[in-house]
Amino acid sequence: MKTIRVNLSENSYNIYIDKILVGRIGEILATEKKPCKTLLITDSNIDKVYGPIITESLSQHGFCVRIVALKPGEDQKTLETASALYDACFDHKLDRSSLIIALGGGVVGDISGFVAATFMRGIPFIQIPTTLLAQVDSSIGGKVAVNHPKGKNMIGSFYQPKAVFIDTDTLSTLPATELVAGLMEVIKYGVIRDAALFEYIENALRDILQLNHHALLKIIATSCQIKARVVEEDEKETHLRAILNYGHTIGHAIETLTDYKKYRHGEAVAMGMLYASRIAQEMGLTNDNTVFERQLSLVKRLGLPLYTGLKPGDIIKTLYSDKKVISGKLRFILPTKIGEVIISDQVTEEILYRVLNTPLLR
Ligand code: GLY
Repeated sequence: MKTIRVNLSENSYNIYIDKILVGRIGEILATEKKPCKTLLITDSNIDKVYGPIITESLSQHGFCVRIVALKPGEDQKTLETASALYDACFDHKLDRSSLIIALGGGVVGDISGFVAATFMRGIPFIQIPTTLLAQVDSSIGGKVAVNHPKGKNMIGSFYQPKAVFIDTDTLSTLPATELVAGLMEVIKYGVIRDAALFEYIENALRDILQLNHHALLKIIATSCQIKARVVEEDEKETHLRAILNYGHTIGHAIETLTDYKKYRHGEAVAMGMLYASRIAQEMGLTNDNTVFERQLSLVKRLGLPLYTGLKPGDIIKTLYSDKKVISGKLRFILPTKIGEVIISDQVTEEILYRVLNTPLLR
């Protein structure tokens, strides 16, 4: 088992990565926490596959578990669902010594963390992410939230889990399209911080897509390591943590304009990463064309979309309504080479029009 420490003084915790971890959760958890009342929040798909195994493991080690299975989907991430989850917390008589477990993808992790952060002003929670996206990104770093009609993740907080358990075996039941979209976040880590990781993905893409355990362990552990170091330096995103949003500025605008229905998050981020690389070239921040080309080549190998049909003017208007706009200025994460990015608020509308008017595939 690989263990990565996230050092955040009294909010520090471990990320455990291994195969066949879900069935051993009770045993491992009992070494960290006294058995207690536990509300396990998941979705109905995950519940069918893992609900019985995890309940048995936790019960065997003295945890008194109740499962709440949400309907799958982003539209469940609302204050209404949170309210139903508070009811479940009261019904199961949770108190501040109890535990909430989030078992699932980003939606389950975000809303469970939000409920854990707010029920009785905060009770302990752990994350067991079951998608690649959640394993390398959303389960780590304490961003918890629900959506609001005015925007995604607009109601939330920073609230760190007590531990994160990543079972690489859960990826075997993940649809290939979800795996590929999650892999974009791993590629993102390569571009922002780790040229060797990027090169590894270029060379080991087949092994990764065939779910080779060593390849998965390598990319997940390296990604978690990078995210942990960034979050340790800037937990509340006052500066450095923004680099994790590489590709997300234009990516979010694409998702918003298509009602979060047409593209998976990773697909929109992939196009956002390519546009950000073009912006860096336009601004003369890099004259290394391989920064764009190598990312484009990976995106093509993964078969991800490269054309949205959206009007540049609409994308630009949407960019200004994002919560990442600071004092009216757009903030972009721009690569100077593979493994290095800068944070810039100098991207002009003129540059944006030029870049967005040029097809990614010429
Ligand atoms: N997903 C970006 C962050 O956690 O900061």
